[in-house]
Amino acid sequence: MSTDAPDTVIEVEGLTRLFGDFRAVDDVTFDVRRGEVFGFLGANGAGKSTTIRILCGLLAPSFGRGTVLGYDVMRKPEKVKPFVGYMSQRFSLYPDLTVEENLDFFGGVYRVPGKILAVRKRWAVEMAGLAGKERVLTQDLAGGFKQRLALGAALLHEPKLLFLDEPTAGVAPLARRAFWELIRTLATGGTTVFVTSHYMDEVEQCDRIALMSRGRVVALGSPESLKRDPKVAAAASDDGPTLEDVFVALLGEGAG
Ligand SMILES: Nc1ncnc2c1ncn2[C@@H]1O[C@H](COP(=O)(O)OP(=O)(O)OP(=O)(O)O)[C@@H](O)[C@H]1O
Ligand SMILES: [Mg+2]
Repeated sequence: MSTDAPDTVIEVEGLTRLFGDFRAVDDVTFDVRRGEVFGFLGANGAGKSTTIRILCGLLAPSFGRGTVLGYDVMRKPEKVKPFVGYMSQRFSLYPDLTVEENLDFFGGVYRVPGKILAVRKRWAVEMAGLAGKERVLTQDLAGGFKQRLALGAALLHEPKLLFLDEPTAGVAPLARRAFWELIRTLATGGTTVFVTSHYMDEVEQCDRIALMSRGRVVALGSPESLKRDPKVAAAASDDGPTLEDVFVALLGEGAG
């Protein structure tokens, strides 16, 4: 274990990933604590998904150091995988499988033993509001249900750390709100959540946010502390700073 504080779930220092000469992730440093909902916010191509892939042990960093749950992601990526759940940006479910078949498939991927899987599947189906719909083809579900099923699939093995890459893209506002309530409940139960989003109202619900621009973290802190930044306050309207102001004031500068 290279992590001193047991409450630190992710520890990243100078993390860098090159594709050729291009720095997709450029000297990124942050840490994430147990039970925290940590948001990654940034424009298209900022490096959010690449960072997640590195932290899941799917992609090697070029330089820097990253530990996840105490394991070095460069040297021991395979150690990390059993303890993390990953809901990828492109939908991870198979549209031509039923609800139950998708859960069976992911249960196999995550190697959940049969008896436990039966219990976890029931949990996932109920959490997703899909009781009685186990035989429905996934492609016939509305977006909000698909998203909750994908979340259930990523949680079958009860991971300590959950990565959600733009989990609510293309989902209706009401379903998005319900989804965030679920995320908060998971975090309260001790699951650490690392989430990327383009939606300001969503990242407002994170404990802390990292703003990314062109591979770099340009600001990091709680939504409230970011709003108190003097540059943000100066740009804000009379109603007080919003996260939109944070985004414009801090990302505008970081991208310059
Ligand atoms: N395998 C790859 N080979 C070459 N370039 C890549 C590869 N993966 C990502 N990139 C580039 O790295 C940059 C960061 O990509 P990444 O997918 O991490 O961004 P992102 O913040 O997740 O963006 P989005 O919001 O669009 O999902 C982009 O310019 C992308 O084109
Ligand atoms: Mg992405």
